[in-house]
Amino acid sequence: MEGEPLAGRHMIVVGGSAGIGQGIAVAWADAGADVIVCSRTEPDGLRDKGIRWTHLDLAETKAARDTLAAVAAGPLDAVCFSAVYYGAKRSNFREVAEQEWRRQLEVNTTGLWLTLSATLPALGAGTPGLFVGVSSEVAFNAGPGRSGYAASKAAARALLDSVAQEEDGDQVCVVQVLPAGMVDSPGIRRRRPAGFDYSSYMRPDAFARLAVELAVTRGRDHHGDSLVVDGDGEWWSVDDRLPASQNRPVAS
Ligand SMILES: NC(=O)c1ccc[n+]([C@@H]2O[C@H](COP(=O)([O-])OP(=O)(O)OC[C@H]3O[C@@H](n4cnc5c(N)ncnc54)[C@H](OP(=O)(O)O)[C@@H]3O)[C@@H](O)[C@H]2O)c1
Repeated sequence: MEGEPLAGRHMIVVGGSAGIGQGIAVAWADAGADVIVCSRTEPDGLRDKGIRWTHLDLAETKAARDTLAAVAAGPLDAVCFSAVYYGAKRSNFREVAEQEWRRQLEVNTTGLWLTLSATLPALGAGTPGLFVGVSSEVAFNAGPGRSGYAASKAAARALLDSVAQEEDGDQVCVVQVLPAGMVDSPGIRRRRPAGFDYSSYMRPDAFARLAVELAVTRGRDHHGDSLVVDGDGEWWSVDDRLPASQNRPVAS
């Protein structure tokens, strides 16, 4: 797609300061959209792309509600939710503290709920508005060592699937996107040893083409769908092929 197909569009990316969310924020900005990134820390380099930043901590529920209401108050065409708390490391259920479980639910599930709640009314004024939720293969492939992450992402998937069935696709289209494999992101790097080889990992910019395509078409062709994206930026529906499991035994 050439030129600035998203000129005049207003987008919010919750969790757009890093990783896949940043890949989507940059893709939308490069295509001409006015983009606001919400996260706890201001990322380097996004201002140079004309991307605005607003502080948001999804674990601070009241402040998060107010911030999301404020950013959603202007004209709004598309929202992406990509914020995540993975947990400290892969650990079996018996080794995980309750606090970690609560934080996974707070960010990955309640954070999504708060974002939907604040932005759906504004998106519904669009023609239609687009809500993109970044999902995960773990929502389809529960497994050892990541029970909290799996449960919080499965709940997020069910929340978005349910909302998609409620929303009239002429008002708001809801689409989930997920990587076909592991993605080299700051959140994943925090959980890997020094010297780890990331050569088989996808890059966050693999989502760029699909993100722009969805924004241009406002998600009309994919309302209610979950789309798996591979390292070359190709995509397919989970209805055609489920994503490969990233489960592995937990290292002792
Ligand atoms: N990377 C993978 O291999 C992979 C695989 C499958 C699915 N996914 C999914 O892709 C999405 C993004 O993953 P990623 O690996 O790109 O993540 P990441 O590198 O860890 O980035 C996470 C983003 O969430 C924000 N965030 C975290 N806690 C927050 C909070 N309390 N309040 C507001 N923002 C918060 C972070 O910004 P701040 O730290 O500045 O707040 C950052 O912008 C997630 O939904 C994940 O489940 C990723």
